[in-house]
Amino acid sequence: MHDSDDVIEALHYFRTQLRQLLTTTGLSDQGIKVAEDIQQRLMVQGVPSRPASSARLCALRDELIATIPQVPPAFGSLVDACFTLVDHLFWFQRSAPHRPDFMAGHVNAEIIGPRGLEVRDDITIGISLMRPGLIYPDHHHLPEEIYIVLSKGLWRQNDHPWWSPGIGGYVYNPSHIVHSMRAVDTPLLALWCLKH
Ligand SMILES: [Fe+2]
Repeated sequence: MHDSDDVIEALHYFRTQLRQLLTTTGLSDQGIKVAEDIQQRLMVQGVPSRPASSARLCALRDELIATIPQVPPAFGSLVDACFTLVDHLFWFQRSAPHRPDFMAGHVNAEIIGPRGLEVRDDITIGISLMRPGLIYPDHHHLPEEIYIVLSKGLWRQNDHPWWSPGIGGYVYNPSHIVHSMRAVDTPLLALWCLKH
């Protein structure tokens, strides 16, 4: 059960690590402001929940996690805390009916947020995993977003060229900007933080 001491401890640890990392993003002024707002909101705890996810998505998740390369030491604790929680998260997919490769090769979960272990609607903190070579569909949304990049991978905004934030890099997406990400030769692993 998700309310076991282990899960509560891992979730607490995850929040602590995330708050620390959000203080050192090196983003633009606007990105730093969003990171600070999210960090502030993380000071207040949400409501615990217990979602469920399908066996197919859990198998895909496990396959991808097994081949994620080592992350830099500064991010190791955050990733360890995420991976401690994986069995307790609700794993879901972004719908892309005409992209069978994408549907067979990506999975997302909210850790904190409407479908998270901690239910709240002022922020959403989630994780995405994607097979090598796949492109996440272009999308946009009202909430500003910060990605914490935890694997190799490329990011794009609007029609700008793909660029590499690097492992441990951050990406700030202003409200409604069209954006995407692309896995290269290893699975893509990233955390995303939405400020609603
Ligand atoms: Fe997004």
